[in-house]
Amino acid sequence: MSLDQFSLDGRVAIVTGGGGGLGVGICRTLAAAGAAVVVAGRTPATLEPVVAAINEEGGKAVTVEVDIANKASVEAMVAKTVKAFGGVDVLVNNAAVYHLRPWTEITEEEWDEVHGTNLKGYFLCARAAYPSMKERGNGRIINVASITFFGGFPDLLDYVASKAGIVGLTRAMAREVGVDKITVNTVAPGAFPTDAEKIHHDLEGHIRRVLESQALKRRGTAEDIGNLMTFLASDASSFITGQMIEIDGGWMMH
Ligand SMILES: NC(=O)c1ccc[n+]([C@@H]2O[C@H](COP(=O)([O-])OP(=O)(O)OC[C@H]3O[C@@H](n4cnc5c(N)ncnc54)[C@H](O)[C@@H]3O)[C@@H](O)[C@H]2O)c1
Repeated sequence: MSLDQFSLDGRVAIVTGGGGGLGVGICRTLAAAGAAVVVAGRTPATLEPVVAAINEEGGKAVTVEVDIANKASVEAMVAKTVKAFGGVDVLVNNAAVYHLRPWTEITEEEWDEVHGTNLKGYFLCARAAYPSMKERGNGRIINVASITFFGGFPDLLDYVASKAGIVGLTRAMAREVGVDKITVNTVAPGAFPTDAEKIHHDLEGHIRRVLESQALKRRGTAEDIGNLMTFLASDASSFITGQMIEIDGGWMMH
């Protein structure tokens, strides 16, 4: 029995959307636990400060520009990771897009953008990282979904549908890669104070309703998400796969 099981020393983690609200906390927490982190995203200017903060804290990180909806770009991200750190142990599929509007206003192009990023993008990243994980005899794929899957929240139909797809993708993939000692899990966040919630027209009312709905009367933080990711990335979680874990301050409680 040892707390070493919770350490990520020697592990290499890719975090997509690493420059966004939750992504920043995920990168910093994984790095603090010992992982070498690839802070991946499509906006280089948002990635650099995350790497600088990790280096300042004594961790290891590099930035990689990627469009997760593009197969060649995703394959280049994994190749750069292998070149920088020797392989991939952990993939956090976190990058996503979201738009708030009635379902009748969703265009075909927007539908394709949302599913191309939030669902196909997760598949492409997992598919590209898999050979390295398999070779290393160990792997962790952690997919970020959303509790909107349970609530069927209005004005987010394409987003909610893509997040529902992630739950199925997680379960089916977990069945196929278990034999390689790779786990695949979904983390479903509640409402966190990032750019994502600024899409709400009545932000104050939204925050009030969130706090009324949660058992815990505080806002969640990116570090809360990072701590769960660190557990799911570590050896301590090696018998957990195909699961969806809600992290929402006790909102949905399934
Ligand atoms: N914030 C919340 O309350 C909340 C709730 C439930 C689920 N989530 C989920 O958590 C994850 C992170 O959300 P967030 O709140 O940090 O959002 P965010 O918008 O702050 O960050 C998302 C990041 O993904 C990046 N991204 C988008 N498309 C990309 C692409 N094609 N290639 C590469 N990068 C791309 C964006 O540039 C951004 O940096 C998302 O999967 C989101 O759906 C968030």
